[in-house]
Amino acid sequence: MSAASQATSAADQRRAVPLVEMRDIHLSFGGVKAVDGVTIDLNPGEVVGLLGHNGAGKSTLIKVLSGAYQADAGEIWINGAKADIENPRDARRYNIETIYQTLELADNLDAASNLFLGRELVTPLGFVDDDRMEAETRQIMGRLNPNFRKFSAPVRALSGGQRQSVAIARAVYFNARILIMDEPTAALGVHETAMVAELIKQLKAEGIGIFLISHDIHDVFDLADRVTVLKNGRLVGSAKVDEVSQDDVLGMIILGKLPPQLASCAGAASI
Ligand SMILES: Nc1ncnc2c1ncn2[C@@H]1O[C@H](COP(=O)(O)OP(=O)(O)O)[C@@H](O)[C@H]1O
Ligand SMILES: [Mg+2]
Repeated sequence: MSAASQATSAADQRRAVPLVEMRDIHLSFGGVKAVDGVTIDLNPGEVVGLLGHNGAGKSTLIKVLSGAYQADAGEIWINGAKADIENPRDARRYNIETIYQTLELADNLDAASNLFLGRELVTPLGFVDDDRMEAETRQIMGRLNPNFRKFSAPVRALSGGQRQSVAIARAVYFNARILIMDEPTAALGVHETAMVAELIKQLKAEGIGIFLISHDIHDVFDLADRVTVLKNGRLVGSAKVDEVSQDDVLGMIILGKLPPQLASCAGAASI
């Protein structure tokens, strides 16, 4: 297929049903409405930045998608069909993978062991197949991060960006179509942030949809196609990054108001 026709089919795909729709999601902890009637969506090959102050409800909302929490009310639709996600195992069946800020790597194990942690490949006789796991790890890292060399080192010895690429490789190997990344570049320097940005662009090109949670509006503007802003558990609004300025988005985060050019068409109430 030519590059041009590939681009067209990717665009057609984007016009079709969203990869994810979370509709009117509610979740309270005791008296606290952590998520209060939020609707968001994500398309294939799209990065949606989820922004908002601490306590805005970002983590709670994505934990509903990853199966860590169950919503009190609301629906999740995946590829145009209503999804039933009651636990993380269900989420994986829908090819939803989550990379938490902590990465959840086993520091004393190497990249391959981390990639297959809890989902080890075995030989026909039932033994853990270290050779095949290393070969698979080399193959996927060759695709995602060709400069990665430290296959036999414990991941403790890796840099922040290399650790992040192991976590991303793990998600992608297990067929993530929907990837949730919680603050992927929070602890990284400039060079490493650029490396993770490259990885994210590559995942996009493969048609994976990404929810990128961040408090860093600059990172989000570089990587996201759209931003969705939450405040006090409520949706402020969503906007394409090329239709708003960073000041507009800061206004959404701080004041809970849409910028004038969006408020007029959306008619949304301020929070
Ligand atoms: N497990 C929990 N138990 C009680 N309250 C919680 C829990 N998780 C989050 N909250 C509350 O829900 C609200 C939203 O939190 P959170 O989703 O973590 O926000 P964010 O990720 O945007 O910082 C906050 O008021 C927070 O204190
Ligand atoms: Mg959070």
